[in-house]
Amino acid sequence: MRHLLTTVGLEHDQAVSILDVAEDMADVATRAVPKLPTLRGRTVANLFFEDSTRTRLSFEAAAKRLSADVITFSAKGSSVSKGESLKDTAQTIAAMGIDAVVLRHAASGAAEVLAGSGWIDAAVVNAGDGTHQHPTQGLLDAYTLRKTLHGDGSRGRDLDGVRVTIVGDILHSRVARSNVWLLTTLGAQVHLVGPRTLLPTGVDTWPVTTGTDLDAAIAERPDAIMMLRVQQERMHAAFFPHEREYTSAWGLDDARLERLATDTIVMHPGPMNRGLEISARAADSPRSVILDQVTNGVSIRMAVLYLVLSGSDPREVAA
Ligand code: CP
Repeated sequence: MRHLLTTVGLEHDQAVSILDVAEDMADVATRAVPKLPTLRGRTVANLFFEDSTRTRLSFEAAAKRLSADVITFSAKGSSVSKGESLKDTAQTIAAMGIDAVVLRHAASGAAEVLAGSGWIDAAVVNAGDGTHQHPTQGLLDAYTLRKTLHGDGSRGRDLDGVRVTIVGDILHSRVARSNVWLLTTLGAQVHLVGPRTLLPTGVDTWPVTTGTDLDAAIAERPDAIMMLRVQQERMHAAFFPHEREYTSAWGLDDARLERLATDTIVMHPGPMNRGLEISARAADSPRSVILDQVTNGVSIRMAVLYLVLSGSDPREVAA
């Protein structure tokens, strides 16, 4: 694998194999066993033009647990404030000697531009570009679903027949887009629920069902309900209901938490707007796997860094 830019076009067996490689990394990711020397001498550059807690730190933890060196760049406090471009920033950091770039950027398509431009020679991993894609989030969500639903026997398995309801601000969500394509490739049935104004134009061409009634979706007893963050910072032109109206119609509040089927798990990519799209009780309930998602992110990012830096086909590594 040369780069990881999107979950669109990831083949079923490739995706299962990435999850399997992540599973092989899990003991190191969770520090049950010491770090591996696998990427000793390699340097990973985290280029974050947008804020992040989970993604940036888990890529850093993943690289270090494989013994790579890590350089971290945040746009805030950098020469981006003086007008330096993505090209010049990337080439400046590449001139210091790097093997992989983990890029988060506000512009949809930025990771594809960097990977295809020839500006730098490093592998590129998309850590979230605008409203477009967040492939490692999709992978860690698929891994979390597989692990939670299939337990110790999950290696080699996909998500055939698993029913996932994704709720909220689909329009602005790169997490939703990455999950839709990856989860359906793995055999899951995905249902999207949100205000009509926050469902993207063209969603009818996606391999999903859609609706606006969260209570009806809950009554269908999905295996997982994934609440999305309301992205106030991207809500430029989209009509957004009053916060109280949003919570009343599309929030996972305490009453809806009570009505979830006993085995429905609660997911959220974070960061959460507690009290808006999810109540504190739902976020902290025993059925919440939100912190498992964070833990599993380290395993997934170890697998992805290993695969892009070795240039290996995941199917051969996982075999
Ligand atoms: N889920 C996610 O991408 O979180 P961060 O923005 O904190 O990285």
